Amino acid sequence: MPSLRLNGRSHEIAEADCDTPLAYILRAPRIGDLTPKLGCGKEQCGACRVLVDGQPAYACTLRTSDALDRDIETAAGLDTGVRLALFDANATQCGFCLPGIIVAAEALFRANGQPTRADIAEALKSQLCRCGSHPRVLEALEAFSQGWRLPPGEVSTRSHIEPPSPPDELPPGLVATPTLTDWIRFDVDGRVQALTGKVDIGQGITNALRLIVGEELGLPPATVDVITAHTGRTPNEGATAGSMSIETSGANLRQASAWARRLLRERAAEAFGVPPERIETRSGALTAPGINMRLDYWQLSIALEGFQIRSRTAEKAPDRYFTVGSGYSLRFDIPAKATTGAFVHDLAADYHARVVRPPSLHHRLTRLDATVDPPGVLVIDGSFVAVAHPVEYEAERLRERAANAAEWHRLPMAPVDPGIDQPRRDAAEAFPLRDCTPTRARALPMQTMHRATYTRPFLMHGSIGPSAARAQWSDGRLRIDCASQAVEALPGVLARVLALDAERIEVRHVPGAGCYGHNGADDAALDAALVARALPRRRVLLKWTREDEHGFEPLGPAMRVDLGADFDADGHVTTWHHETTSFTHVARPSPGAPGVDLLAARWLAEPLAPSQPTPRLAPEVGIHRNALPLYWFANKHVVKRLLPDDAIRTSALRGLGAHGNVFAIESFMDEIALAAGRSPDQFRLDLLLHDFPARAVLRAALDLAGGLEGNRGVGIARYKNRQCCAAVVAEVEVDMDTAQVRATHLWIAADAGRVIDGDGLRNQLEGGAVQALSWCLKEAVAFDPYGRVESRDWDSYPILRFDEAPRVETVLLDHPAFPPLGAGEATVGPTAAALANAVFKATGLRVRDLPLTPDRLRAAAAQ
Ligand code: FES
Ligand code: FES
Repeated sequence: MPSLRLNGRSHEIAEADCDTPLAYILRAPRIGDLTPKLGCGKEQCGACRVLVDGQPAYACTLRTSDALDRDIETAAGLDTGVRLALFDANATQCGFCLPGIIVAAEALFRANGQPTRADIAEALKSQLCRCGSHPRVLEALEAFSQGWRLPPGEVSTRSHIEPPSPPDELPPGLVATPTLTDWIRFDVDGRVQALTGKVDIGQGITNALRLIVGEELGLPPATVDVITAHTGRTPNEGATAGSMSIETSGANLRQASAWARRLLRERAAEAFGVPPERIETRSGALTAPGINMRLDYWQLSIALEGFQIRSRTAEKAPDRYFTVGSGYSLRFDIPAKATTGAFVHDLAADYHARVVRPPSLHHRLTRLDATVDPPGVLVIDGSFVAVAHPVEYEAERLRERAANAAEWHRLPMAPVDPGIDQPRRDAAEAFPLRDCTPTRARALPMQTMHRATYTRPFLMHGSIGPSAARAQWSDGRLRIDCASQAVEALPGVLARVLALDAERIEVRHVPGAGCYGHNGADDAALDAALVARALPRRRVLLKWTREDEHGFEPLGPAMRVDLGADFDADGHVTTWHHETTSFTHVARPSPGAPGVDLLAARWLAEPLAPSQPTPRLAPEVGIHRNALPLYWFANKHVVKRLLPDDAIRTSALRGLGAHGNVFAIESFMDEIALAAGRSPDQFRLDLLLHDFPARAVLRAALDLAGGLEGNRGVGIARYKNRQCCAAVVAEVEVDMDTAQVRATHLWIAADAGRVIDGDGLRNQLEGGAVQALSWCLKEAVAFDPYGRVESRDWDSYPILRFDEAPRVETVLLDHPAFPPLGAGEATVGPTAAALANAVFKATGLRVRDLPLTPDRLRAAAAQ
């Protein structure tokens, strides 16, 4: 029998498996090494990398027969210094790309014991990461190469602002879910369960939440297990979106933990016959000086049963924090993500399923002449076509065969225009903002002297792991495991499609690959449910292909921002006019929405249409997020316009409208500063006189960078005008022959209130900045004339690679007496503007249309 030698162990395989790509064989239950990930299947992302006789190979395409009797090594087996260096540096976010990076880095270090940063970047340039972990990976490996230890996180600069009074009210999550044991449980001796309705999409909130709970209970964070969103089991805290998890779930869990600690001390005091103030707690033990008795949290946890939180209790004072606010804490989830199967893609299954996709949203099935022999299964419901098979690679082959046999037709439709020209903008209904809120008042025409228009194209979430979900129907109940960021909304929406009571649908979050927004994770849940309905009691794991992911995920919408300003002789801005126009940024599935916003619903024999885009008129939602500038201007007119078109599917992408709006505002600030004969940094500082915290952030970024001399630009924004304030200085090199822009260095300063997990916060800020660099330098979705996405893989939709990543330095302004604020989206806008402003410094070219490609620079030069 043929055999594979994997991580030093021999595994016999069937003769018939020799033609199968190696990744499928390694991942199948007989071997069960889930570290080679299937990201693209075409040697474009590196997620499947393994070593074969010490050389990196793509397991997605390598035939198993070519690996027989050779030494195969995977991230699971590479228990080496390279792997440890990456773990120690928390050098990842979602972790999906990490096994492939470990493999590629290990190959480099075996060949070259002391590679330079450039060597490392070169060796990793075939590995893709969507979460922006590039600088951290490079720094960790560079330090390992040089024998340095990375400093355990920078000590945050503490700036002094008058702290707010402590809140009197309970956080809303506790008002909605007052039962203490719905949040904190002591079910397992020596461990605490913290239940959150939020999910970890790679942003590391589980790490931060365990720090919060451990701190409040006086327990080591390692004893806290954070259980993330699972319908019926965890509190309903709404979707994980808008960088709100630490602000909301953190506040709920902190207060619930404070109550738990208080009740446990009171119960111990009763048992000891002393006042509660005399009870001391240490690592869960409860004692009182002079009393020869000892109890612990677990012995007394019955005291928490049935307790309803109706008022606030005192929380630990920030000046007594021990772990919260420390510069560094090891992410506990990373080793498992890199060495085992921690993702939804890795769940055990009885059947593997694939969807046979039409060419576009607007195509329907004409004919499908295909049959599938058992144990394969073909599911057809209208134009929804899927296949399933107990063996994953067989499911993939069935999909290819069915796709070749399917004929599709496009629905009658007019050509689709992905651009936003002025007539189209003017035809869209206008909603002038009052403060941050859109109104139906009359919009004023733009009459300012200085004007400019900025655009960004449609962008992809582009998760490295395509969307996936597992479904199982049993006894009239449906169980879904998926990576949705809104698990509580899914049962109600699935119920409408499947004619099932929402109470009979259970949804559990399982990590997927990072996406930072609304990608195909929810759609995959419906796809899996539709296939599982044909296979009762079987666990059906459905995965999208790379082409599915690129072709059908909801895109980050294109934006157009028109800006105008007048200023007086002293450089004071007397009028500021901002018009922001885009397609909807808000299309997550919701039970209350008029339509069903799950992809397959429109293809069913009894189709359910998606919702029509409608203007959102709440503060800081979607298109108008951060449309209001941070600065003091005498007159501000800010207008939002929604394009109601739905031919291109769009929804929330990291930062929503903040990316395009801040790119435009902060680019235009440079333009008018120069027109007024002022330096861009001092111009901003002068206009922030009313906003001391923002000035402090801007100064911190400028100080960290050592100023804006050379090819440097700056951008600043406070996310949603009330969350994390971040400033970014970018430095670029522009190749004058090729017009290629490269960001060489970013300096970030941020004020996110109280710092919980300093390293996690830096990781988020830096990841957002690097993802924004990728959008702004390289990314734009291409369409055919009828809105079919033509960017179907990583060659046609390139993203930033390791050899293009900048160095990043970050400083945090910590305010321990303030509430913590989310930061995952805070840098996307400032980075975009800092980059464009730096390109202007380097070239004298003001490029107002993203991405800043060589073609765009040449076009600007030609004007
Ligand atoms: Fe193999 Fe992408 S390179 S899965
Ligand atoms: Fe690299 Fe998420 S950390 S893809």
